[in-house]
Amino acid sequence: MRTIVDTGAYGEYLHYGLPLTLVTVQGPDGRVNVSTNASIAPLPGDENRLAMGVLKVNYTNELIAQSREFAVNVLTSEMRAIARQCGYISGTEVDKLALCGLTTIPARYIGAPLIEQCPLNIECRVEDVHDLGDIDLWIAKILAVEVDEAWSNGRGGVNLQHYDLLIYAFGHTFKLGPMVGLGGL
Ligand SMILES: Cc1cc2nc3c(=O)[nH]c(=O)nc-3n(C[C@H](O)[C@H](O)[C@H](O)COP(=O)(O)O)c2cc1C
Repeated sequence: MRTIVDTGAYGEYLHYGLPLTLVTVQGPDGRVNVSTNASIAPLPGDENRLAMGVLKVNYTNELIAQSREFAVNVLTSEMRAIARQCGYISGTEVDKLALCGLTTIPARYIGAPLIEQCPLNIECRVEDVHDLGDIDLWIAKILAVEVDEAWSNGRGGVNLQHYDLLIYAFGHTFKLGPMVGLGGL
C-alpha cells in the first residue's frame, strides 16, 4: 500500500534529493546577486541545457529577466550556513556576497561572476522562459561547466573521490553519500 506524501503548502517538501546551488546574476548596474536554488534539472542533448525554476517574487528572477544570463554554483557540504542565508534573505535588502564572505571570479562567457568557494560552476545563457504562474521556468544553454583544481581529475573531468555536494531532500539537507556504482550503473 502507498500513502500520499504531503509536499507542503508551497511544494516546499517536493524536493526528493536535489543538489543545492547558489545562482549568481548581475544587475544592469554591475552589482551581483546570489540566491539559493534547489530546482535545477540538466537537459542533456546536442546542446546541453538546464531548466531552472525561480519564484517570480525573487530579485534573482528580475535580474535574470534583464540580463538573460546566470551562473549555477554548486554548494559543498560545509556551506550549509551560506545556503540558509542566501535562501532566506533577498538581495534587495542586502549584499549577500559580502554578508556571507563569498568571493567571485570572472566567468568566461557571461557577465555574472562565479563563486570562488564553489568548486563546480555552470555558465548559462537563457534560451526560453515558461511562465508558470508564481514561477518562471528558465531554459538555458550551458556555455561551460568549470571545475576548481580541488575537484578536478586533471583530465578535463571531475574527481569523484572529492565530490562533496549538499543535497536537499524533504526540507532537510544531506551530504552526498559514497559512490555505489561505476560507469553505466
Ligand atoms: C534550501 C532552499 C532551496 C531553495 N530553492 C529555491 C528554488 O529552487 N527556487 C527559488 O526561486 N527559490 C528557492 N529558494 C528561495 C530563495 O533562495 C530565496 O527566496 C531568496 O531569498 C531569494 O533571494 P533574491 O530575492 O535575492 O533572489 C530556496 C531557499 C532555500 C533555503
